Amino acid sequence: MMEEKISLLREEVVAKMNDVKTASDVENIRVEYLGKKGLVIEILKNLKNVEADKRKEVGEKANVLRVEIEKMIETKKEELKELEYENSIKNSEKIDITIPVEDKVGSLHPITIVQRELEEIFTGMGFTVEDGNEVETEYNNFEAVNVPKYHPARDMQDTFWLENGELLKTQTSAAQNKIMLKYGAPLKAIFPGRCFRNEALDASHENTFFQMEGMMIDKDVSISNLIYFMKTLLSEIFKKDVEVRLRPGYFPFVEPGFELDIKCPYCDGKGCKVCKGGSWIELCPCGMIHPNVLKMGGIDPEEYSGFAFGLGLSRLAMMKYNINDLRALNSCDVRVLKQMNIK
Ligand code: DAH
Repeated sequence: MMEEKISLLREEVVAKMNDVKTASDVENIRVEYLGKKGLVIEILKNLKNVEADKRKEVGEKANVLRVEIEKMIETKKEELKELEYENSIKNSEKIDITIPVEDKVGSLHPITIVQRELEEIFTGMGFTVEDGNEVETEYNNFEAVNVPKYHPARDMQDTFWLENGELLKTQTSAAQNKIMLKYGAPLKAIFPGRCFRNEALDASHENTFFQMEGMMIDKDVSISNLIYFMKTLLSEIFKKDVEVRLRPGYFPFVEPGFELDIKCPYCDGKGCKVCKGGSWIELCPCGMIHPNVLKMGGIDPEEYSGFAFGLGLSRLAMMKYNINDLRALNSCDVRVLKQMNIK
């Protein structure tokens, strides 16, 4: 009698499961059969009323059914999830081809454009393009480029520190050491990247900005190589011959170090708004890589020499697109990009 009831219940559940459409249908079945007052649970609870010689068998059968129903519920839930996923894909692939297309749907960011342009120029001159991290160790950002703890040059590059002692890199120079250790000499590489500093913000200071670092290391590399590469590069960017000059500049990782200026390409040095009447624009700090930096990078300074430079990508983008506030580049304001009229 009880056994018959159990097998009827099984048929019932199977039939109901086949009709299930939603997760709440599944839940209803669960409650009806396996809930506190569920039909199968009731049988188990009332085993004491079953005749003694049948009790064990009925108990076993009811338990088997309970497990079977649990399994059916699991399987059904999986099936429903799968179905829901497939439907969502089908729906998201619907494309409304009647929506009119705007004639201009977007553009690359000015920094991306300048970065890609530079990468093309440099790869044409045999440089590889390398990646650098944004989160760096203190060692890579400072020590490995000859800025030991307590060096006064650290004051100019206050940054954001992580709880684990690492930091947001303040300069693309932070990748110099890793790249030297990876490739050894000779080496020609550029490495663009986002840099961070803890700055008070104004039109020419941002806490987040972009640089592009470059290094060339080989036998007999001299300042003339540096000047040649810089001149070629800047002429390509400004699409005309540019005049450059070097002034002494101090950076712990180069010796000698320079500030490279270009004759203002907008007024040819006559004086204008861009060069603020000064005829020259400070564009790219650079120098001959310090022997300590080469040594830490596993390169023998007796045998090899090299130059390095740190181009301000944000700066270059501002010049190229005539942007006078650095903050506009990170503002995420589409109106700014629209104004730049980038094609
Ligand atoms: N890392 C320097 C800065 O952010 C810029 C720099 C100067 C890079 C001279 C160089 C270099 O490679 O030679 O202020």
